Amino acid sequence: MTEEQAGEEINRMAQPVQPSNLTDARLADVEVLECPYPTYDLLRDQAPVWQDPHTGMYVITRYEDLRAILLDKKRFSNQRPGNDHASLTGTARKAYEKFKAEGWVPAASLAGRDDPEHKQMRSVFDGAFRASKIKALDPQVEQLAEDLMQDLKRHINFPARSQGRCDFVQQFAVPLPLIIICRQMGAAEEDIWQIKAWTDAWIKGVGFGLTEEQVLWSTTMEIQAQHYFQPIFERLRKTPDNSLLSDLVNLPVPGWGRTLNDNELHCAMMQDTFVGGSETTTNALSAGIMLLAQYPAVWEELRADPDRYLATFCEEVLRLESPVQGLTRMAMEDVQLHGVKIPKGAILNVRFAAANRDPQQFPCPNQVDLRRGNAASHLGFSSGTHYCLGAPLARRELYWGFKAFINHVASFRVLPENKLRHAPNYNLRALLNLQLEITPK
Ligand code: HEM
Repeated sequence: MTEEQAGEEINRMAQPVQPSNLTDARLADVEVLECPYPTYDLLRDQAPVWQDPHTGMYVITRYEDLRAILLDKKRFSNQRPGNDHASLTGTARKAYEKFKAEGWVPAASLAGRDDPEHKQMRSVFDGAFRASKIKALDPQVEQLAEDLMQDLKRHINFPARSQGRCDFVQQFAVPLPLIIICRQMGAAEEDIWQIKAWTDAWIKGVGFGLTEEQVLWSTTMEIQAQHYFQPIFERLRKTPDNSLLSDLVNLPVPGWGRTLNDNELHCAMMQDTFVGGSETTTNALSAGIMLLAQYPAVWEELRADPDRYLATFCEEVLRLESPVQGLTRMAMEDVQLHGVKIPKGAILNVRFAAANRDPQQFPCPNQVDLRRGNAASHLGFSSGTHYCLGAPLARRELYWGFKAFINHVASFRVLPENKLRHAPNYNLRALLNLQLEITPK
């Protein structure tokens, strides 16, 4: 199959919505989120600051504007609506009462705080995720990627069962980062599918247009997770070990005169670590293999010389298919940008994924370019004070994950029945399945 044919096949599956003008731009529509890139192009070109009539948020899409906003913590805050429990009403208040009665009300996440609290709390996280610790994990990540690929080969080599077929998401991309983080968070490896059900429920619970029943179901699932994690905190308080969680539990927060409390730890587990760290890496791994299926010439070049190209490939995946497509900031004062007045208190949605395809920063932005000199300047891990804490770990997981695939796979294709659908989510991009037919080496 030529590269063009491969591209057409994938495009036929995705059928991107092409808005012709701004009134057609519907970023919160499920079909647009399935392939938001043409909509990002239109906004970046015609309305770099666009107030989405459906969400009310000011959507920012140009690379330079995002960089400036992410670096300006005085005018743009990370506080999330809902951080202030006293102002909660309706379903949000019911969820809050349920947490209070049956579990722990999650405190604001690290990513949802401003200085000075952010700086103080971040120093605890920086201590737990220090470079020497992540470096020490590297052989473990490499070995796990190898083991999972061996399992996958055993599965596809058993013709009566699989005929060379597998689901890369379920059999590789989910377990690799989840097992690594489970080991570091004191959770049992055999519980990964239970934990995955909790993180999936959490993600569903922060979507748009949810019924009260859906929100409360997600709350119930989070409370279940809290009761699973709580005994682990208590054990590590009594008997510290060298895991990341042990550091988070036991390192004092500078200026607070105490360690993180249960409410803060529960938020750190669910949002900052399991969702923020594991879901995102899973989605980058799946997206990378999808891109290799889409661009056979890139696959050939990469497997011919992985030592030379693999690091850039990892960055290109994060740039092109950013697992975190966008997040919010709050304007702390009236701001004028590209002729648009953003009033104090308004919510901005900074679309990392749109900035990452900005032609002003990345020539031929829609192509995977293994020789791109500035690939790592993407904003897939954000920028500034909230720059992703887990980026060094995520990069190693991507590196070893793709390396194991290259080491063990001679050729592969996406099965035609796979529609390559993504989970309907405004901020996170997650391929639901990636059914492959693999010829192992
Ligand atoms: C490919 C994988 C990943 C992607 C794409 C990603 C993306 C991001 C982004 C965009 C932010 C910035 C939030 C903001 O600006 O408001 C962030 C922050 C964060 N990430 Fe990651 N992340 C990944 C992996 C990880 C991992 C493996 C961990 C930890 C296990 C992690 C933990 C965090 C934490 C704790 C923050 C908050 C940092 C702060 O606010 O100071 N992430 N991540």
